[in-house]
Amino acid sequence: VIEQVKAREIFDSRGNPTVEADVVLSDGTLGRAEVPSGASTGEKEAVELRDGGDRLQGKGVLKAVNNVNTEINKALHGVSPFNQANVDQIMIDLDGTPNKARLGANAILGVSMATARAAAEATHQPLYRYLGGTDLELPQTFHNIINGGEHADNAIDIQEFLITPVERTSFRDGFEKIVNTYHTLKKVLEDAGYSTGLGDEGGFAPDLKSSEEALQMLHDAIIKAGYVPGKEIAIAFDAAASYFFNRETKNYDFEGKTYTPDELGEYYVGLLKKFPEIISVEDPYSEDDWDNFIKFTKNYGDKVQIITDDPVCTNPKLIREAIERGMANSVLIKLNQIGTVTETLEAIRIARKNGYTTMISHRSGETGDTFVADFTVATNAAQLKSGAPARSERVEKYNELLRIEEELGTDGTRLAHFPDNVKFD
Ligand code: PGA
Ligand code: ZN
Repeated sequence: VIEQVKAREIFDSRGNPTVEADVVLSDGTLGRAEVPSGASTGEKEAVELRDGGDRLQGKGVLKAVNNVNTEINKALHGVSPFNQANVDQIMIDLDGTPNKARLGANAILGVSMATARAAAEATHQPLYRYLGGTDLELPQTFHNIINGGEHADNAIDIQEFLITPVERTSFRDGFEKIVNTYHTLKKVLEDAGYSTGLGDEGGFAPDLKSSEEALQMLHDAIIKAGYVPGKEIAIAFDAAASYFFNRETKNYDFEGKTYTPDELGEYYVGLLKKFPEIISVEDPYSEDDWDNFIKFTKNYGDKVQIITDDPVCTNPKLIREAIERGMANSVLIKLNQIGTVTETLEAIRIARKNGYTTMISHRSGETGDTFVADFTVATNAAQLKSGAPARSERVEKYNELLRIEEELGTDGTRLAHFPDNVKFD
């Protein structure tokens, strides 16, 4: 049973405070987890409790830490760590708000993840095995190698430009192709006279003139690295359009121009036609613009993967609504958007049951915790985005997948493949 739950304030990859939680079992087993934090957060995300005031730019998490050490510790004392749903429900009930605003989703998620870790540890299993059982596969990974939007100080308004390995014989083989393309992109940018400093997710943050130029750089890098675009390496982007939506005019102020929602759709289609290796588009419209998001899905949902992130925030209720209204054909999954392991599993279940694909995601503010790597394998979520193959808080997730592949032993049959029914032409 759970003997003690304890938290402390640590720091994330952007130097901001975050929560680390320990769950100690009566036999002395320790489970520990660190909580990530987003920058382009959705409005409906569960509440990340911050202290406010002067200390650490108001971003301290001592209130959340204190909630773990007092109320949550008391409520979970003597509870079995092997019933994750029960542990999570106790914390949800204790919080008593619909969005975890009282105790903090950062407090609750830390304990939720640490509980799973402690239970895995106590049963001498790797986390992915404890959460997932047998018949597991390695995901297709998406790597953000040019950073824009809220993640970089450049003029590009699309937030993430990602590459993903398509044809590959193993997870390692695919990852090597990504690493080669990443290093080649650095040369391509240097040759064009751009800076190769890194953004929040380990991708380059060059001062390119436009998103189209960013895609051209990726396209050139893939070829220069010796790969066939679309066949060996494909491209995806996350527009994170909530961040360039004009709430007054209902238009989109994008890279120096104003686009009506229809014009923005035409712009995207232009990109998809020019770069047919783009296989996935995330948040093409704002979280405040469901109608146009739905319209875009109706028009292009059979040609490209369309992911909803900000509009649904890993919230089972919002995901149900999105599915009913025909928004997107894929759901982005972030544990800290909803705040417990159990609710995240529920979000994945709903998406999959309705034929939506799922992509698990890191946050732009990350820690060394590799929970999402194990979680992706455990849920057979098939897709994971965790940043560039650079900066340890990103790479450690991929290193964990390399270890898992070694344990599972792959002959290429344990690899998730991108659904090939969605192809733009
Ligand atoms: P965030 O970005 O972690 O800053 O929210 C990730 C995303 O928008 O997918
Ligand atoms: Zn996103």
